[in-house]
Amino acid sequence: MCGIVGYLGKRQAAPVLIDGLYQLEYRGYDSVGIAVSDGKKLKIIKKIGRVKEIETARDEIGRVGIGHTRWATHGDVTVENAHPHTCRNITLVHNGIVENAAKLKSECEKRGERFASDTDSEVIAHLIAAEYQGDLLDAVIRACNQIVGSYAIAVLCEDEPARLVCARMRSPLIVGRAKDGLVVASDIPAVAEEGAVLYSLKDGEFAVLEGEKIVICNASRAEVRKEPMEFDLEEGRVDLGPYRHFMRKEIDQIPIVLRQSREEIERNFCFSDFCKVLCQTEYIQIVACGTAYHSGLCFQAALERVCRIPAEVFIASEYRYMDPIVRRGTLLIAISQSGETADTLAAVRLAKRKGAHVAAIVNVKYSSLARLADTVLFTQAGREVAVAATKSFNAQLMVVYSIVAAMASIRGKKSPSLRGIEGKALRAIAAGEGVRSWVPYFAGAKSSYFIGRGEDMCAALEGSLKLKEISYLPSEGYAAGELKHGTLALIEPYTPVVAVLMRRDIAEKTMNAVHEAYSRGASVFLVTCFEEYCGRKEITASVLLPKCPPVFSPILSVIPLQLLAYYTSVARGNNPDKPRNLAKSVTVE
Ligand code: M6R
Repeated sequence: MCGIVGYLGKRQAAPVLIDGLYQLEYRGYDSVGIAVSDGKKLKIIKKIGRVKEIETARDEIGRVGIGHTRWATHGDVTVENAHPHTCRNITLVHNGIVENAAKLKSECEKRGERFASDTDSEVIAHLIAAEYQGDLLDAVIRACNQIVGSYAIAVLCEDEPARLVCARMRSPLIVGRAKDGLVVASDIPAVAEEGAVLYSLKDGEFAVLEGEKIVICNASRAEVRKEPMEFDLEEGRVDLGPYRHFMRKEIDQIPIVLRQSREEIERNFCFSDFCKVLCQTEYIQIVACGTAYHSGLCFQAALERVCRIPAEVFIASEYRYMDPIVRRGTLLIAISQSGETADTLAAVRLAKRKGAHVAAIVNVKYSSLARLADTVLFTQAGREVAVAATKSFNAQLMVVYSIVAAMASIRGKKSPSLRGIEGKALRAIAAGEGVRSWVPYFAGAKSSYFIGRGEDMCAALEGSLKLKEISYLPSEGYAAGELKHGTLALIEPYTPVVAVLMRRDIAEKTMNAVHEAYSRGASVFLVTCFEEYCGRKEITASVLLPKCPPVFSPILSVIPLQLLAYYTSVARGNNPDKPRNLAKSVTVE
């Protein structure tokens, strides 16, 4: 999962590529590279690390170029494995995975070809070079016919220096006309500017950028006409303002995002369509990954408890390997911030093939998921830059809880209300700042545990994921009652344990687990809306949140946990926005 960008026009290409790559760093940042052509010679600059490592390449001369920011899948993080990759007259950048790379590579090697890297991407360069007979588009089409897997590629040919050819299969790709030139990129922010006209390629489509013309076609070279995409320039432009990191800024945006998501639901008739589809459904499956999977768990808990509608939640990467039962009338709901998560898309494709109706709850408007789904609801989280999802999780919860409330009223059941939740979120952020005093207990800890029951467990799972992904501390999220069945053996003196306690009916039960941990020496921290538990002897420190209907409470209780992860990460000297080994958009399986 990587980001690609390309430019051909009147400006010098290098600065356009580098600026575009900064916008794509959320897709990966292990290594970076560009290729720039002045019409006679093609120069490649590649470095390990982030885009800033190639800042010195801004002065390279040439009006055509391609660039890449990498998140390693095949091959280590080395300069050789960084893109662009070259074979003879062909140079390309690739996002995706060539699943039959080993077979294709050995065929090339049998022909005596040598490889400079361990990547699957270089195989594509070899295929195109082998197919090249004077027409780059023909060669790209023929090469793509041999690839099994996913790709978004931008290809240059030294024999046709004024042409850039692109292709897409299951990896996002847009092409368009920007100021003084033609562009290609994995995502809009890389190339969006005033007056730009952008088009999204579909799977199996190719584009040729040449002079001032873009031709989009299919594998038979039949031209495809497209409507330009609508995009919001402001949304694409994100800056830190007074913040040190995007993650902290994005946590502060939660109240606004909740309001925007609620307003969107109130005015969007897709919402009532969505509820109607749900009403007619006999069997609901929810698929998602990571944080979005935790939203799915929260959705399931609320649907079942408030509406008595059963639902099953699947980790998307497991779904297709479990031979899922898709009965007549199955509704599959996919939840995703990016709408590009390969595992989620694969689950959706499988469910569609088996006859399910697919509904999506997604943040990114022109994403593959939004296009694939039969019914779409957009969360209104705006652009989320930090790799760790925060505001998008709260926005997903706002949407799923609104669905639950609407479904309850359709079914004549009483639902708790979300009224005032934005103000409560604001107060939760202020109260959550209290976790700064917890940080010394976590920053040096060997491991930590997050526990809760019911909805509180869903929040605990998310809190634990947040902490591990940006602080690199081992952490487990657990059902409070399950602790004594094994995990308790790991508790040592001062092991930090966070308990989430937002349900009064099971508060004492959760406190039993707290006591079990405390009596083995754990330092227990509490996130609760019940003041009486804060002063208990077992509790080292607590955050007191506003009261909220327990079934919807993860929307608030997760906030101090997001802040805890953030401050612990900073205390450990990490960059919380760009955790090692991770990327924002996971477009590979
Ligand atoms: O874009 P998606 O919501 O589909 O992404 C799913 C996960 O990759 C994502 O939530 C990931 O777990 C985040 N890094 C969590 O903070």
